[in-house]
Amino acid sequence: MRKLIYLLILGAMFIISCGQEGNKNEANNSESDNNKEVKGKEIYNRICIACHQSNGEGTPGSFPPLAKSDFLKNKDSVIAQVLNGKKGEIKVNGMVYNNVMPPMGTALKDQEVVDVINYVYASFGNDGSKVTIDQVKHIRATVE
Ligand code: HEC
Repeated sequence: MRKLIYLLILGAMFIISCGQEGNKNEANNSESDNNKEVKGKEIYNRICIACHQSNGEGTPGSFPPLAKSDFLKNKDSVIAQVLNGKKGEIKVNGMVYNNVMPPMGTALKDQEVVDVINYVYASFGNDGSKVTIDQVKHIRATVE
């Protein structure tokens, strides 16, 4: 009887420790993803929010929306937009804007550009697309 209880306890400990191992891995993975999302959000709230607003809706007539923006379909254009900014006409969701977005390429490192763009894709009802650091490096090298 004693032996059986001992075995049961050992078994339980084994199962618990496996469970913890699993949780730990899960926590690590989601932590690094979370970190990127937190960084992206932090950059958005520091820089982009002033014009594109906290809900990504922008201001009709002045600042185009990032929420469900059809401009987001072309990732290269989005990266170029953040790196170089833009002056002049741009059409977003059928509406023409003619304003100025300052370039962010000097203020933001490649990874920060990735994080903020992926935050925008993951937010405001957008489709969760992702850009990679290689894409950002490529666009940075081809402009100017
Ligand atoms: C000072 C205001 C301002 C800031 C700050 C700003 N933008 Fe913009 N953004 C604009 C304007 C204005 C346009 C449209 C440019 C034009 O009219 O030619 C634009 C256009 C865009 C577009 C393409 C059009 C669209 O709505 O999809 C994207 C993408 C974008 N901005 C992303 C960002 C991100 C990401 C940040 C932060 C890193 C940011 N912007 C910061 C003003 C700003």
